[in-house]
Amino acid sequence: MATMESLIGLVNRIQRACTSLGDYGGDQQAFSSLWDALPSVAVVGGQSSGKSSVLESIVGRDFLPRGSGIVTRRPLVLQLQHTEEGQEEYAEFGHLPKKRFTDYFVNLTLIDLPGLTKVAVEGQPDSVVEDIENMVRSYVEKPNCIILAISPANQDIATSDAIKLSRDVDPSGERTFGVLTKLDLMDKGTNALEVLEGRSYRLQLPWVGIVNRSQADINKQVDMMAARRNEREYFATSPDYSHLASRMGSEYLAKLLSGHLESVIRARIPSITSLINKSIDELESELDHLGRPIAVDAGAQLYTILELCRAFDKIFKEHLDGGRPGGDR
Ligand code: GDP
Ligand code: NA
Ligand code: MG
Repeated sequence: MATMESLIGLVNRIQRACTSLGDYGGDQQAFSSLWDALPSVAVVGGQSSGKSSVLESIVGRDFLPRGSGIVTRRPLVLQLQHTEEGQEEYAEFGHLPKKRFTDYFVNLTLIDLPGLTKVAVEGQPDSVVEDIENMVRSYVEKPNCIILAISPANQDIATSDAIKLSRDVDPSGERTFGVLTKLDLMDKGTNALEVLEGRSYRLQLPWVGIVNRSQADINKQVDMMAARRNEREYFATSPDYSHLASRMGSEYLAKLLSGHLESVIRARIPSITSLINKSIDELESELDHLGRPIAVDAGAQLYTILELCRAFDKIFKEHLDGGRPGGDR
């Protein structure tokens, strides 16, 4: 487990190094398969379906632009990463570059995608509906993307954009979790048991029902801890859902997701290793071309990637040999 953590940490660092190599004008494409090697998690759904609220609940922090009047116009990518020993674990958002968030559950990339819309708002070009869908699609069609398909329970699931799009890009359903938000806002006398018990809109992975903070809660500045407590209490005391209480709510979703990520990552490690060995060869020949010593930033960045790849390879081999990995942290 600790070994896997350090391997994932190394791949994350290799991915970041590849990104800055791209910034320096280096050949980032050469490492794109390495970039794709680790999973990301993206939330997909209509506007105001509760996407940002779900992401926040999973991570257990308040930080996303949220609320009925706020629209996420571009994907917000959150990199969660463990850092060197002694340093704090942190995450950074594109829209809050100086703000770091701590206390996360695994190394991964979370993506808050813009809401899918059905009609352009006044002042927007008609193409906006299609543009947003294409942009969202470009993220979720990647096989390494785990999809949280968000549907609000107070709307007909038959019209859910999240379900439509995720079925399209993940027909076997192996990487889609169905998330049903706003259970508390359903019409009195109705419930979502058909879906939550798997009788309709069945997915390969389970559906999870969620009660996020309402707009009134947000206005009253109800914090995450209180929100989670309220959600737990909602399910525990609900006449409709109390029998499902242990499989509902954002904390359970976070646990499910983290278990799923771990098994996906475990399964990927052998292919990451062979990619890294290939990269080592490519890097060495690229460095030979440049000639040493290299003064330019791209060259330095290549060295960094090479070092990281070697470190990954070393830890992995030690692990295979059954020895305690030296780079373990
Ligand atoms: P997004 O546009 O999909 O990111 O949706 P947000 O997370 O910003 O939520 C939109 C609005 O719906 C906000 O006012 C939230 O407080 C509210 N909301 C989200 N989930 C729930 C829920 O489960 N119950 C209630 N009552 N309100 C919710
Ligand atoms: Na919103
Ligand atoms: Mg949002």
